[in-house]
Amino acid sequence: MGEPLAHDSAHLHVSGRALYADDIPLPRDALHAAFGLSRIAHGRLAGLDLAPVAAAPGVVAVACAADIPGENNYGGALHDDPVFAQGEVCYAGQPLFAVAAASHTLARRAARRAVVEYEPLPAILDIRAALAAGSYVLPSERLVRGEPQAALARAPHRLAGSLAIGGQDHFYLEGQIAIAIPQEDGAMLVVSSTQHPSEVQQVVGKVLGLRAHAVTVQCRRMGGGFGGKETQPALIAAAAAVLARRTGRPVKLRLDRDEDMLATGKRHDFIADYEAGFDRDGRLLALEVMLASRCGYSADLSGPVNDRAVLHLDNAYFIPHLGVASHRCRTHTVSNTAFRGFGGPQGMMVIEQVMDEIARTLGLDPLAVRRVNLYGEGRDVTHYGQTVEHNLGPLIVGRLADSSGYGVRREAVSAWNRANPVIKRGLALTPVKFGISFTATAFNQAGALVQVYSDGTVLLNHGGTEMGQGLYIKVAQVVAAELGVPLSAIRLCATDTSKVPNTSATAASSGSDLNGRAAQQAARIIRERLVAFLCAAYAVTPAQVCFGGGEVLVGVRRLTFADAVAQAYRARISLSAAGFYRTPKIGWDRARMLGRPFFYYAFGAALAEVAVDTLTGETQLLRVDILHDAGRSLNPAIDRGQVEGGFLQGVGWLTSEELWWNGAGELMTHAPSTYKIPTARDWPRQASVELLVQAPNGEDTVFRSKAVGEPPLMLAISVFHAIRDAIAACAPRGTAVVRPQLSAPATPEAVLRAITQLREEGA
Ligand code: MTE
Ligand code: HPA
Ligand code: MOS
Repeated sequence: MGEPLAHDSAHLHVSGRALYADDIPLPRDALHAAFGLSRIAHGRLAGLDLAPVAAAPGVVAVACAADIPGENNYGGALHDDPVFAQGEVCYAGQPLFAVAAASHTLARRAARRAVVEYEPLPAILDIRAALAAGSYVLPSERLVRGEPQAALARAPHRLAGSLAIGGQDHFYLEGQIAIAIPQEDGAMLVVSSTQHPSEVQQVVGKVLGLRAHAVTVQCRRMGGGFGGKETQPALIAAAAAVLARRTGRPVKLRLDRDEDMLATGKRHDFIADYEAGFDRDGRLLALEVMLASRCGYSADLSGPVNDRAVLHLDNAYFIPHLGVASHRCRTHTVSNTAFRGFGGPQGMMVIEQVMDEIARTLGLDPLAVRRVNLYGEGRDVTHYGQTVEHNLGPLIVGRLADSSGYGVRREAVSAWNRANPVIKRGLALTPVKFGISFTATAFNQAGALVQVYSDGTVLLNHGGTEMGQGLYIKVAQVVAAELGVPLSAIRLCATDTSKVPNTSATAASSGSDLNGRAAQQAARIIRERLVAFLCAAYAVTPAQVCFGGGEVLVGVRRLTFADAVAQAYRARISLSAAGFYRTPKIGWDRARMLGRPFFYYAFGAALAEVAVDTLTGETQLLRVDILHDAGRSLNPAIDRGQVEGGFLQGVGWLTSEELWWNGAGELMTHAPSTYKIPTARDWPRQASVELLVQAPNGEDTVFRSKAVGEPPLMLAISVFHAIRDAIAACAPRGTAVVRPQLSAPATPEAVLRAITQLREEGA
């Protein structure tokens, strides 16, 4: 336990031998499917002539809304997501129908032959337009803690501002894909690249008119999910299953990159307007925020995404009085969905900008303002009523400021900026505090199935899915430790709804917390059965039976684990067990936004240093120093990978990844030619990434570890603020208060706009 082991599939990943859904050999009669997508953002679907599609070479079947045997819906939360548009199209890129043909290429060619008649309707495309029209997917809500208005009125200092935060495409390397394989007697087997096999099972069942026990969903691994495979795979699987049912043949539906980016949901873009009251030391006294997200045409997970934004408006800081309005805007664009951080990053961007602006207004160092606002003694209750226990904010920020040489480097950056008119440098240190648990309490449960074969080998199944994050090896390490066997004795197999039922999505970073514990419990049940058997067989007490190193000590006798197991088998002891876990202590009153939604918090901090070319707006991340809290890490190699990858994915979100829709509501950035994710070359020359050591989780999690999947993404907020810091250095000398107007992502265009504005204001 706690060893820095390589990912269990690393040798397969690097040699191209890991089997993804698209690599699984298909039965000979399998068909390939393609979607036909809406060309317009909003309109009545006046006519859909699919005869030319059906007549195209190689086509075996076509299906549209009218051909769905059950319910034409894949919406998990509300029933507002049609598999195929019916009557009305709600976004450019919405699936209208699907076609199955002898090959992928023939299916795609045929799909283009459809004759679609639209009667265009006015489209609402962005957040401001939706707010103006009162267009929402869910009724707006307001959270009030204390007396924000009164506290604002009496605050010695006040400032108001706003912020636009862009969305993000998941850009998983493996696009959305499903293979539906008809089974005997009407049942359906689905191989799906999904974070949520149980939801795919339910949706396929409802779409086909089957009950859950007739549908099996399997997923060995995904080539990345990042939240984009929490609800979206149900659409892909449902369409494949409808065609499989119609033809009686296996159907594979694999989206290409452009279709994937056009048809499936992304991170919500947000806007925020805020007003802050503070004292002369920069302490925040009151905050009033209007938060609005672009949800797209349907609710999907927008309710909980906005909730998490509201719950992370504090980040690591104490806000005595807070008022928040939360708007979930309906637009005629793709329905946005989960993405690493799940609204948390957007909420945290708001408070970090408030911190930065307070500092610039008062002429203080932003880090000093951040530090006086951190949660601490007597200032430790969040705006939703949860006490911040085991608070690591001050410790991590303090240690990182010291180890990274913040003070000296602040001086050096100032000196550089005095001497260099063109290339400006900037520095920012920002903390992360992220709540761990699904806010919907019911999802905080997991199951596992552990089977020991009579040769002493172990087959492990649990409800979690592998998307590259290293969940499988972590859970295997837990089971190996519990049974005292080497990791090589354990084999992981595909997540499968027929092995472990009713699972939650692998999401909210809780995969190892939940499934690790469920698997540990299953292994413990088997170990206890073995102990009882060995005590009876060898006349010893349980204290005299000890598992470790692939052996079992029974009194003075030493057996191999395999031998002990073989003896138990012959004595007719069951060697298979199901384990179950539910997170303790949590409870959340959604209606009142009060309670303890999170079992615990994960912390971290990053210091970023950037250079900005003030002539071109280009930015370069020169150096980053990260200190991150993974509790007592189950696997420091995996966790470090999560910290590095999460951070860089956040850097992409905040600097280079820009989603751009034209005036007709068509997404124009739907391929890597125009949508720029970071590459290995964007990793800074100088990087120090450390996990906080000797920091067991204060709560009783599996081996006192902490979830690590999402929190590191938010370390990238330091890069955005380092860029703001560099831009601030462009203000004409003598400007009293410098408040750069920088929207996210800080693309070269956005950076130049902010610089120009500062220079014009100062002139
Ligand atoms: N890491 C990799 N390599 N690929 C992914 O798709 N998804 C992230 C994170 N890390 C992801 C990843 C997201 S959004 C979540 S919620 C967690 O992993 C889910 O896995 P966990 O709960 O096991 O950490
Ligand atoms: N995080 C991620 N996914 C989710 C959540 C959450 O809090 N709730 C529902 N799906
Ligand atoms: Mo992660 S956004 O919770 O899948």
